[in-house]
Amino acid sequence: MDLLRLGVNIDHVATVRNARGSAYPDPVRAARLAEEAGADGITAHLREDRRHITDTDIERLMETLTVPLNFEMAATDEMQKIALRHRPHAVCIVPEKREERTTEGGLEVAREENRLAHFIAPLAEAGCRVSIFIAADAAQIEAAARIGAAVVELHTGAYCDLHAEGKFAERDAELQRLREMSAFAHSLGLEVHAGHGLTFDTVGPVAAFPEVRELNIGHFLIGEAIFVGLKPAIHEMRRLMNAARA
Ligand code: PXP
Repeated sequence: MDLLRLGVNIDHVATVRNARGSAYPDPVRAARLAEEAGADGITAHLREDRRHITDTDIERLMETLTVPLNFEMAATDEMQKIALRHRPHAVCIVPEKREERTTEGGLEVAREENRLAHFIAPLAEAGCRVSIFIAADAAQIEAAARIGAAVVELHTGAYCDLHAEGKFAERDAELQRLREMSAFAHSLGLEVHAGHGLTFDTVGPVAAFPEVRELNIGHFLIGEAIFVGLKPAIHEMRRLMNAARA
């Protein structure tokens, strides 16, 4: 089976920093530790309200990282300009407002096809690998393929929530949907990523989907780092991913 990459999302190091308006903890330091722990990429979401990652964080990440940056952003003119200035390895388009979301929580691509096609074209021309964060839904996947996205990242949040709530039959149905939609997206020529809400308990079944090439994981890892340290948390996540893949 193809290699499964781990992208470590460092947003919530910045959340803790911003809670006190201090300079620490520094998300760029966390990114460097994640690299040392074997992360294949770093993910950071520059939100319109800058509630965690800031513009300066993105500049410093671009200067410092030796692994690719996956820059998450909303489909706005402001964010497009920032992405075109930095030209990160990857840009992942995510919903920030309720009306941009499908019922499952990913980006509403199907109803916004024309606008999104024009929005991502210059990013792709600038050499960024454009990824669209969507629900595991055939109509959204087909729309992502039609607008020329290279990658779809499938939203695993519902699966993880159902697991946490102990609703195991529904969780398994959601997992089956994710599995089928990974295969469907792959059959359309899209690279398949997945993420949101993944933990040590939930990562294995998703890591086992043969079509998935990358997982992006943040909140749980940053939380776990409080107890065991960031590197051991990442090592354990990687171990579980490899075990599921084997
Ligand atoms: N993938 C995407 C597109 C996201 O927006 C996020 C959250 O920022 C993640 C993955 C990581 O989710 P979590 O922080 O819950 O692991």
